[in-house]
Amino acid sequence: MSVVIAVDGPSGAGKGTLCVKLAKALGFSLLDSGALYRILGLASVDAGVAVDDEPALAELAKTIDVDFVPGEPGEPVGVMLNGIDVTSKVRLESTGALASKVAPHPMVRAALLETQRSFAQKGGLVADGRDMGTVVFNDAPLKIFLTASAQARAERRLLQLQSKGEDVNFATLLDEIEARDARDMGRAESPLRPADDAWQLDSTTKSIDEVFAEVMAEAQRRQLV
Ligand code: C5P
Repeated sequence: MSVVIAVDGPSGAGKGTLCVKLAKALGFSLLDSGALYRILGLASVDAGVAVDDEPALAELAKTIDVDFVPGEPGEPVGVMLNGIDVTSKVRLESTGALASKVAPHPMVRAALLETQRSFAQKGGLVADGRDMGTVVFNDAPLKIFLTASAQARAERRLLQLQSKGEDVNFATLLDEIEARDARDMGRAESPLRPADDAWQLDSTTKSIDEVFAEVMAEAQRRQLV
């Protein structure tokens, strides 16, 4: 089994950027588990499967053909769904909301479990998600729980989306973030919560470089890298 650094927290706390930086700096693989739920959400729309049809969603999760294509340096990883490039659709706010509606079903989560664990078969792994430290890699030697205030997360997301040319409104974004937090924390199966042995970090007043430096120092202190 490889060394796993599990990174959980609510949407917009900076997990994605942190995980990409960690994986690059350490030469580890990266699992963006949220992308799997996002892709399943997109696939459910294509297949005409409702977000509350648990058995059909679980079946879909087992059969969809997903491929992650490494991008140029600095470019996002490309995502192919059944041979079609869905890279730009995957990151949309609406796709995140859709993901959080297909994600609560136990059969869906079970169907995606082995896929996620298979990422840890070789070398080190940085795993980004909601239940990396509590369920998928519950024996990871370093579990980070990264939070930030909803206000700060909405501000960051606004800048991110605006830079991509998405037309968004701050109040709507804050509402969407709070609604997604409530769905992710309130569900019965694998709710978003810090693992008992998680190292909690609040990024509200910190830059991504500060957070990155703190996590690297902690990984070194634990002699993981
Ligand atoms: O992290 P990201 O915003 O891509 O995740 C999209 C949604 O997928 C989350 O809001 C959550 O509902 C779901 N998710 C999950 N478990 C994970 C990762 C994501 O339930 N490990």
